[in-house]
Amino acid sequence: MFKTHTCGELRVEHVGQTVTLAGWIDRRRDHGALIFLDLRDRFGITQVTVHAEESPEAHEAASQLRVEYVVQVQGQVRRRPPGFENPNLPTGEIEVVAHRVTVLNPSRTPPFYISGSRGDNVDEALRLRYRYLDLRRPRMTHNMVLRHRVVRAIREFLYDRDFLEIETPHLIKSTPEGARDFIVPSRLHPGKFYALPQSPQQLKQLLMVAGMERYFQIARCFRDEDLRADRQPEFTQLDLEMSFVDAADVRAIIEELMIAVSRQVSDKRIQQIPFPVLTYDQALERYGIDRPDLRFGLELFNVSEQMARSPFGVFRNAVAAGGVVKGVRYPGGAGLSRREIDGLAELVKPYGAKGLAWIGLTGGPDAQGHYPLESLRSPIAKFLDPAEIDALVAVSQAEPGDLLLLIADHPHVANPALANLRLEIGRRTGQIDPDLLAFCWVVDFPLLEWDEEEERWQAVHHPFTSAVDEDWDLLETDPARVRAKAYDIVLNGWEIGGGSIRIHRQDQQMRLFRRLGLDEAEVAEKFGHMLEAFQYGAPPHGGIALGIERIVALYAEAQSIREVMAFPKTATGVDLMLDAPSPVDPVQLAELHIQVIAGDPPAHPGTPEARVSDSPGVAPGGP
Ligand code: AMO
Ligand code: AMP
Repeated sequence: MFKTHTCGELRVEHVGQTVTLAGWIDRRRDHGALIFLDLRDRFGITQVTVHAEESPEAHEAASQLRVEYVVQVQGQVRRRPPGFENPNLPTGEIEVVAHRVTVLNPSRTPPFYISGSRGDNVDEALRLRYRYLDLRRPRMTHNMVLRHRVVRAIREFLYDRDFLEIETPHLIKSTPEGARDFIVPSRLHPGKFYALPQSPQQLKQLLMVAGMERYFQIARCFRDEDLRADRQPEFTQLDLEMSFVDAADVRAIIEELMIAVSRQVSDKRIQQIPFPVLTYDQALERYGIDRPDLRFGLELFNVSEQMARSPFGVFRNAVAAGGVVKGVRYPGGAGLSRREIDGLAELVKPYGAKGLAWIGLTGGPDAQGHYPLESLRSPIAKFLDPAEIDALVAVSQAEPGDLLLLIADHPHVANPALANLRLEIGRRTGQIDPDLLAFCWVVDFPLLEWDEEEERWQAVHHPFTSAVDEDWDLLETDPARVRAKAYDIVLNGWEIGGGSIRIHRQDQQMRLFRRLGLDEAEVAEKFGHMLEAFQYGAPPHGGIALGIERIVALYAEAQSIREVMAFPKTATGVDLMLDAPSPVDPVQLAELHIQVIAGDPPAHPGTPEARVSDSPGVAPGGP
């Protein structure tokens, strides 16, 4: 053995013992006859002292050391002299007086600081290029340990509740989740391809048909989609499926799971148990988004009704065109500078908002409780009737000093724009408590959405999701109104998971495929195996998948899921360490019957987003 103890282990009770440690040089301070070494491994840091007089050979070796050398130290544990303890280190009361120092391997000077938090602001590309060094940094080591603990807690919870852990293959046929597939050419079957699973969705359903009843897997998923801070081309899900359950059963077990895991790995407080349940419509109305951050209030307000006959044309016309006039309150914002307010207007532009109307309550109400124009600072208040101003103040619950920000537009413009504005206001006014875990469920999603580009209905979740029983008959007559037996779990404004009760009958599945515009031949080719399986006694079933990276990132207060992945890819899907993707040998390509065509690919019809309101650029709530 190279070591008798870890670098995080020694305490005063070890004083007097002779020990051997091994690790990396975190820091070295040379005081001539006395050299201090901070020796680091993944468990912690231990201070080593090397004295020239007592151990000349060890001292000579120590004087050659540089940071990140791999070193073995043998010595005696002693209490640090009074006044030299380090309360910030668990090993801070002791040090090891070295008798022998052996270099196991030298190191080149690393491209960035590894010790302490000095590497936290290093350019991410450099960190990804040298990920094996980046992972040595305490913050990253902590994230890896945290992720391990989360996955372990999940497994233990589910083992205790009779779930079977079953692996499913990666080389399969397309299982759509709204992204593009990664495909793998087959050498043995020229011109044919496997698809990597976007999720194990169909396989886990087939496992239910197989009688496995309670299945889970820590499953890798592959999706060729545009990446963001909370998306990667390959990522990990807790994938779970149960038979003979309804939506409430699945939600109950996941709720229990998330409470158990949170308590095991996090000091943060769960805001509300049982988790609040919002319908999709409520979430959009009150927060403008289907993954609301409930750690703070500032709900959106809606004055469409009150503005329907407004003298202000922007508002009146928006409502007449079927749009809304909605807004958000900025507490204490009435005194913001013009530039700051213009800055807020810039924030809503990327969502297509044509403007941002604002009214600052700079003064107070008069004796009758009305706000006269002198009490308001606004480019638009003068166009509004006094009754409309009263209504605005009442509906928004504005107080003197507040700023009201309004958007008049179609809901699919106004909602995401205001959702983002609300988050920004929450952050700026310090209303977001970082020590809270605000879980909620969003239910009653629409089953289908109209795809403008392809001019057909698309499944909002995936095409195996069941409609709410009483809505089935709307499928042909009023598809937009069909609700799905689907549920998302949201944590602090991030969608951490989603699932549904599935269709388990062949006739219903076929009916939905037809509504999605698939003809018999297409269905047989793509999903024949599912329809066939449903004819052999498929039990009622449903499940969910949780995004492991997102959950760990939230516990870790990381801004991006890359921070909790050992070897993530960049926003353009590149592995900077391995240099992937990269060209392959022409011989290898020939074996695969593949020819690379230079230049732009032919136009692709494009794959629409899986989610209704996941419009591009909506910043995640963030921890
Ligand atoms: P869905 O597509 O909603 O559902 O995915 C479930 C959860 O996986 C996480 N996630 C991602 N994490 C990182 N990078 C990505 N590119 C990415 N895409 C999704 C999210 C999301 O909530 N088969 C269904 C589940 C089911 O119906 O049981 C599915 O995959 O946290
Ligand atoms: P205008 O009359 O176009 O100069 O607009 C007057 C004010 O209304 C400006 O502050 C604009 O930012 C705002 N505004 C314009 N269009 C909209 C809209 N669709 N929603 C909210 N405010 C708007």
